[in-house]
Amino acid sequence: MMNYRPTERMNVVSYPIRDIVIEAKREEAKGTNMIWLNIGDPPQYGFEAFGHATEKVKTVLDNPHLKGYAFSQGDSELRENIAKIEKCTPEDVFVTVGLTEGIDFFFHSFIGFGEKILLPNPAYPLYISKTKMFEGNLVFYKHDENGQIDIRDLEKKIPGAKTIVIINPNNPLGSVYTEDNLVEVVELCAKHDVPIFYDGSYDKIIFDGELVDFRKIADEKIQYVYGSSLSKNFGYPGARIGWVTFHGDKWTEIKDAFLRLCNQRLSVNWEYQKAAATAIIDPVYSEYIEEMKKKLLLRRDALAKATKELQISYPFPKGAFYAFMKIKTNAWKYDVEFVRAAIKKGVVFVPGSGFGTNENEMYFRTTFLPEPEILKEAFERMKGVL
Ligand SMILES: Cc1ncc(COP(=O)(O)O)c(C=O)c1O
Repeated sequence: MMNYRPTERMNVVSYPIRDIVIEAKREEAKGTNMIWLNIGDPPQYGFEAFGHATEKVKTVLDNPHLKGYAFSQGDSELRENIAKIEKCTPEDVFVTVGLTEGIDFFFHSFIGFGEKILLPNPAYPLYISKTKMFEGNLVFYKHDENGQIDIRDLEKKIPGAKTIVIINPNNPLGSVYTEDNLVEVVELCAKHDVPIFYDGSYDKIIFDGELVDFRKIADEKIQYVYGSSLSKNFGYPGARIGWVTFHGDKWTEIKDAFLRLCNQRLSVNWEYQKAAATAIIDPVYSEYIEEMKKKLLLRRDALAKATKELQISYPFPKGAFYAFMKIKTNAWKYDVEFVRAAIKKGVVFVPGSGFGTNENEMYFRTTFLPEPEILKEAFERMKGVL
């Protein structure tokens, strides 16, 4: 008899940020009005994508040449512009379907069975899923109480690691690592010859001061890969344009493998790559991002106000648009139980266990993208639950 069951591999494939939606939709179908705080999708909450990018899409739609497949590695103009920003050559740049595909291809080409992968705890869930799917040995490194990378903990865990993933600003913590912290991480990586996969998806969304330039800290000292996309920094996740750049002299064979993976999927949408090519070097962008941050700051403050009286604690977010909250009551044994109770009240969060914390540690993640009144209403509904 033919077996129509999914492969063993599928047992480790999950995406908690969306998995929870099924339960929430069921509750919504019963007539409960839902506030969705589970996903970091700026246009869903009234943030407009960077206008010069959307305008460019409209104009290139008339170009018949761009209806074809683009070069698999990415449009040459886009790669040249990324290379200028990332201080590498266009040959080091790979354009992907969001950073999501870049992460997938990196794991595919670089992570072998049983190899140790160091992930932040908490971590963006895709890294957890990919590590398991490619049968890596998942080891979490810790953060200290200020949301910085715990160097002593990392020092113990780094020997023998194949790679370490750094997400800065961090999703879900909202922490931004200091220069001193990153210098210490780079020194450890140099000592143990461990490359870094640096996820800069939110590297323009920092509320106090500027993000330290990781390239300056890491160049010439370690091998690393830098990834980013249009999704968050440009408020344009629907464009599905991301990229990774390879830094250092040891990546030749990995880049070759990466290119073969790009070749297999033919190309990324050409029209949107053209939009990205102009957007990422557009001088007006600085105005756009300042405006976005101004709005986000109001929302972050609204979140702080709305959660003041509740039985939760969390590091005050310094970047990105999430807060990772710890529940202080003993009303539940597992984080999912709390998330289900919140759904019954019409609010959708993601359980902390989706990001790698233990399910009985009682964490959950919220986004603060929605308007202040919606955040107020959402946490108002949590009174009696938290
Ligand atoms: C830390 C981080 N990395 C990568 C991604 C993937 O984003 P995209 O594929 O839209 O670039 C996300 C999306 O939420 C993210 O939060």
